[in-house]
Amino acid sequence: MITVIGSINMDIVVETAIFPKQGETVLGTSFHTVPGGKGSNQAVAAARLGSDIHMVGAVGNDAFGKEMVSVLAAENIEHSFVKQGKKATGIANITLFENDNRIVVVPGANSELNEQDIDAAKSLIEQSDLVIMQLEIPQETVEYALGVCKEVGTKVLLNPAPAESFKVEWMDRIEYFTPNETECVEIFKDDVDQALEKYPNRLIVTLGSKGARYFDGDKHVFVESFKTTAVDTTGAGDTFNGAFAYAITNNYSIEEAVQFANIAASLSVEKFGAQGGMPQLFAVLNRLK
Ligand code: RIB
Ligand code: NA
Repeated sequence: MITVIGSINMDIVVETAIFPKQGETVLGTSFHTVPGGKGSNQAVAAARLGSDIHMVGAVGNDAFGKEMVSVLAAENIEHSFVKQGKKATGIANITLFENDNRIVVVPGANSELNEQDIDAAKSLIEQSDLVIMQLEIPQETVEYALGVCKEVGTKVLLNPAPAESFKVEWMDRIEYFTPNETECVEIFKDDVDQALEKYPNRLIVTLGSKGARYFDGDKHVFVESFKTTAVDTTGAGDTFNGAFAYAITNNYSIEEAVQFANIAASLSVEKFGAQGGMPQLFAVLNRLK
């Protein structure tokens, strides 16, 4: 069983062929609202692969909140610890332009997830094989949850996105840490090789479409991605994390888990939307062959 403590957003996505300059209006090509949020994305990624997922988070008392809860339910994610906050459901304003995205997140209710909510979920955390967190909820809540995980002896996978609120002193409470290259440099103020050598088998740096790497104690290991044509890269990192969590809790080695997660991410980018394209187990296993 895995508990995800994290954000739940509705993604408001526009696609445009022309990127507006400051003060300029352009006509876009499409508009969609689709489920997102790094927390719920990682929960969905692992649940689709077959993990037993419990989500701890917050939504608003509004239409997006109701929709996001029904998305979790439809994905077989246990959501009794998803509370209704006072603020509006979190949203991500996503602009897709030239095969890449630019994202502005307004956390809303995600910012109301607090220490009491973590306490309420304590026995759930204790029963879990792994807790997954990201950084779209308050820094104090993440810090508090790390303390609870340590107290009850549950391992943590932390994906430091966005990286600003991460504290390096948290590293000794984290079993698996998965920044991308930019986040890695921002956090450790060091080049990636040096950071990797400092945290063998713990720091896994994702490299976008290239794959991911880590240091195994003796040597640097680079696991190449599965090359594919991306339609939408939003949520690729989340798919990587959810799939990595699935694999690690099913006794894969780190190298196997990274390989598995790369494949899941490659499938996810082939479809529109953060959660669109997140694969089921058979699809990953097929591509792994
Ligand atoms: O990682 C992708 C996610 O980041 C999007 O779904 C968006 O909600 C933002 O949180
Ligand atoms: Na996708």
